[in-house]
Amino acid sequence: TILILDFGSQYTHLIARRIREFGVYCELFACNIKLSDLHFKPKGVILSGGPNSVYDADSPHPDPAIWELGVPILGICYGLQEIAWHHGGKVDPSDKAEYGQAKITINPDYESQLLKGIDDFTMWMSHGDQLSSLPASFKVTATTPTAPFAAIEDHERQLYGCQFHPEVTHSKQGHRLLKNFTVDICQASTNWSMKSFIETEIERIRNTVGPHDQVIGAVSGGVDSTVAAKLMSEAIGDRFHAILVDNGVMRMDECKNVEKILTQHLKINLTVVDASEQFLGRLAGVTDPEKKRKIIGNTFIEVFEAEAERLEKKFENVAGAGKFKYLLQGTLYPDVIESISFKGPSATIKTHHNVGGLLENMKLDLIEPLRELFKDEVRALGSVMGIDDELIWRHPFPGPGIAIRILGEVTRSQVEIVQRADKIYIEEIKKAGLYRKISQAYAALLPVRAVGVMGDNRTYEQVIALRAVETTDFMTADWFEFPYDILKHISSRIINEVPGCNRVVYDVSSKPPATIEWE
Ligand code: XMP
Repeated sequence: TILILDFGSQYTHLIARRIREFGVYCELFACNIKLSDLHFKPKGVILSGGPNSVYDADSPHPDPAIWELGVPILGICYGLQEIAWHHGGKVDPSDKAEYGQAKITINPDYESQLLKGIDDFTMWMSHGDQLSSLPASFKVTATTPTAPFAAIEDHERQLYGCQFHPEVTHSKQGHRLLKNFTVDICQASTNWSMKSFIETEIERIRNTVGPHDQVIGAVSGGVDSTVAAKLMSEAIGDRFHAILVDNGVMRMDECKNVEKILTQHLKINLTVVDASEQFLGRLAGVTDPEKKRKIIGNTFIEVFEAEAERLEKKFENVAGAGKFKYLLQGTLYPDVIESISFKGPSATIKTHHNVGGLLENMKLDLIEPLRELFKDEVRALGSVMGIDDELIWRHPFPGPGIAIRILGEVTRSQVEIVQRADKIYIEEIKKAGLYRKISQAYAALLPVRAVGVMGDNRTYEQVIALRAVETTDFMTADWFEFPYDILKHISSRIINEVPGCNRVVYDVSSKPPATIEWE
């Protein structure tokens, strides 16, 4: 097992994710955990990045016992500074904070174990501080134009550090670096697999729930909730009750389609609740993105609770029926990590809609069968359980739905415009064979008006913005480079077929500094 200590970087969970890709098992803990509280002896330790400066009085530091463990240690960004600082190096705020791609040059005079097999490369940088003097016994293994100590190591003491982030996918050879560290330097074994995951998990669910009790859970048609629901349904059959809430801000025909797949194809016991009036009523007049998110989140909880209560009543007098005791949630590993991070999740950029609030009012225990898995592992699991590729490879869709893709007020007519444009957009992407290449694509509606001309008439209509990004982790993303002829075709179809818009623009912003959704 590799131990990862989280110093609060937005990217920490990606370290775990990358390492598992080559079958190495790792566990992630808050940076200040005491080694004596661990239930295993790590084969190596990784110190993550973080928002602090090592020289500040209240900065987090690891249990000093890690320096005595005698296993290799890799520090990333803040982690490197922590290693250097502990061993007498100097860390300063650099005059130029560095964010984004940086060209890394390998020191040709030193045979680095960490950088073995890696040529000059580009890596993702995101830092304010940097090392200004090297601790004795350390060697520089790589530099960038602005960072003279981009990577360092002390081979004798098995201490390694890099200022860049090898864990983000935009760091092209980061995978190799992490593999060099875990497999070659730490000699961790590579036999973690998901083979027996399903059986173990079904067994675990049955033992937890017992022979009579019932479970409820929300489904959205996304891969996580569908896979979780399928697993639950395999384990306890119709004692699992899936609830799909129509919030009025879903894609065109979404509810009907999801219902069909879940009931007919996957045989999941499902109830659909149409609450679109309620949601849209509460959204009327609201333009602030965070308010929209809160309204949708809270209304969802209300609707879900009411439905759960109705189901409970229904079974109250049924002979042999057990109590409703559990709530199923499709929480993935990255969400778990967010909530164990020592300072809570890294800065709140947006309030993500989730059903966490449900537990506060309902006397239910949580079951999270996917909590050890990453997204692609969930996909693999779904595939093994016979879920269609079409669903497994669906682009993610946010809980607040197209409400956060309609800038300004959300009304039924605005919803309709965006639904129609989005349908054409996705249809054409699929036709062009690009759907799997793009990680997420959608149409947004900008409530500004532009002048146009159709036939002999002046038009004054709104603007559709198309978004398409490529990413594997959704933490960083690049905009997708569409062939022009496809964009041209999509634009012409949308303008001609969707009343209410007379212009289509394509969003060419990467994340960061933009986000994937517009709100
Ligand atoms: P951003 O816009 O933060 O989005 O770059 C990153 C990913 O998260 C999705 N997203 C959400 N998913 N509830 C969700 O379930 C939300 O409130 C939410 N907001 C954003 C977004 O679609 C993208 O995949």
